[in-house]
Amino acid sequence: MKYNDYLWWHKGVIYQVYPRSYKDSDQDGVGDLRGIIEKLDYLKELGVDAVWVSPIYPSPMADFGYDVSDYTGIHPLFGNMGDFDDLLKEVHEREMKLILDLVPNHSSNEHPWFRESRSSKDNPKRDWYIWKDPAPDGGPPNNWLSVFGGPGWEYDEATGQYYYHAFLKEQPDLNWRNPEVQKAMLDVMRFWLEKGVDGFRVDVMWHMVKDDQFRDDPPNPDYNDKMNSYSRKIPAFSTDQDEVHDIVHKMRRVIDDYDERLLIGEIYLPISKLVRYYGEDNRGAHLPFNFQLLQLPWDAAKIEAAISEYEGALPEHGWPNWVLGNHDNSRIASRVGKEQARVAAMLLLSLRGTPTIYYGDELGMEDVEIPKEKIQDPQALNEPGVGRSRDPERTPMQWDDSKNAGFTTGEPWLPLMENYRELNVEKQWSKEGSMLQLHRKLLELRAKEPALHIGKYNPVPSNGNLLAYLREYEQEKFLIVLNLGASEEIFEPEFQWQGTVKIATHTELEGEKLNQKITIAANQGLLIKLD
Ligand code: GLC
Ligand code: MG
Repeated sequence: MKYNDYLWWHKGVIYQVYPRSYKDSDQDGVGDLRGIIEKLDYLKELGVDAVWVSPIYPSPMADFGYDVSDYTGIHPLFGNMGDFDDLLKEVHEREMKLILDLVPNHSSNEHPWFRESRSSKDNPKRDWYIWKDPAPDGGPPNNWLSVFGGPGWEYDEATGQYYYHAFLKEQPDLNWRNPEVQKAMLDVMRFWLEKGVDGFRVDVMWHMVKDDQFRDDPPNPDYNDKMNSYSRKIPAFSTDQDEVHDIVHKMRRVIDDYDERLLIGEIYLPISKLVRYYGEDNRGAHLPFNFQLLQLPWDAAKIEAAISEYEGALPEHGWPNWVLGNHDNSRIASRVGKEQARVAAMLLLSLRGTPTIYYGDELGMEDVEIPKEKIQDPQALNEPGVGRSRDPERTPMQWDDSKNAGFTTGEPWLPLMENYRELNVEKQWSKEGSMLQLHRKLLELRAKEPALHIGKYNPVPSNGNLLAYLREYEQEKFLIVLNLGASEEIFEPEFQWQGTVKIATHTELEGEKLNQKITIAANQGLLIKLD
């Protein structure tokens, strides 16, 4: 591909905003669209290219917006359509892109479609959802489970059938085998594309089609009672069916009717299955989210193997991507420690492929312990003890050292991290050696250097817990050496090299000229421009 054939989403960096927690403009304790608008200059200066906003649609909030009751509206908590139009305009004025969250697998049980569907067996929308007769013993039609605990089926007294819900019972699954459902949701996509949104992150893409024979999921031989109840089965028939790829292709065709729009899929699957979502001839999702860095143990050999496996599995012209954090997983600074999180940032922003940064990770925000009585997440409330709460990674963004970190003057919907008086954007912005400054430098250099945004990736075999690789484009070469461990390592590759440190996790090394054999301190990362 020639340089000019690469589009914004190949070259750029995506930033995820969890709107409830970003910035509250009307002091009701919940972030909103006007709040995001206030912070667009920050995002622009930070150096990201696209903003993905988690759901902002009308919703009873049983799953904090992932239960949509109107796909083409705005929840009053977040603002109104005028605010949305302003947000889109302001994003575009800053030459950034706006990506919406699309939740097509399930709606809210309060969506008019579902109200109609459940009203009677012969309602025209009955087949828009997945209804089945009880098993002969009166129990659920099969053994499919809900990701959030308990059976995936809910009995409906009024009509004597069960409906399927992969998540909460307040999130009934739509029946994507029904052409009317397909049309309705593709029209939703067109509605937002016509407004000018730049793409979608499609929620639980691998769930969208289920086995047409409703066969039981097999037991998981690795299950133990410390795991959540969903892990009892392998979701072989309830997820990732071949037919899903036709649906993804249909979504892509809608996207392709517009200029340079982006289709991202949320997919938690092993690499071999994940890459199928690029579709035949890359006519599926542009970026099936790659969650390797969220899931692997933080070990250089394992991560290097996964990078190579992924690079090797990508279809020709399939573009890679990397995710280090999101609203469903423990924050990186809590998973690997504050020091190592800096190395992780350097990894995310120097690998080949589009990175997605989770809001607050650029500051080094950690998981916040939430007192029991303040837990909000249904995943935790449904299965106390084994259901992991996602609240700790969803706490308000820390803007300054005023009350509630400048997020709200009201009562924040989740408590803030205690350290916010020190760890906030205002204080960290120009602080030498801060995590925020490291992000700014990495984003700036990545945007400037083709080798870093589109260059080739070549692994450099190295010792111990070192992860090293080259990024190359034409004559430019960068060497990245990361110590993923807490003890010193020696780096001495087999080839001759010398260069200058452009960015270091420990800033005193920046500008140093290095060659051949170097010592890499614990938790240290170097980005070196080779001569
Ligand atoms: C996705 C979302 C998650 C949500 C679930 C159900 O995994 O990221 O937050 O709870 O889908 O919609
Ligand atoms: Mg608000």
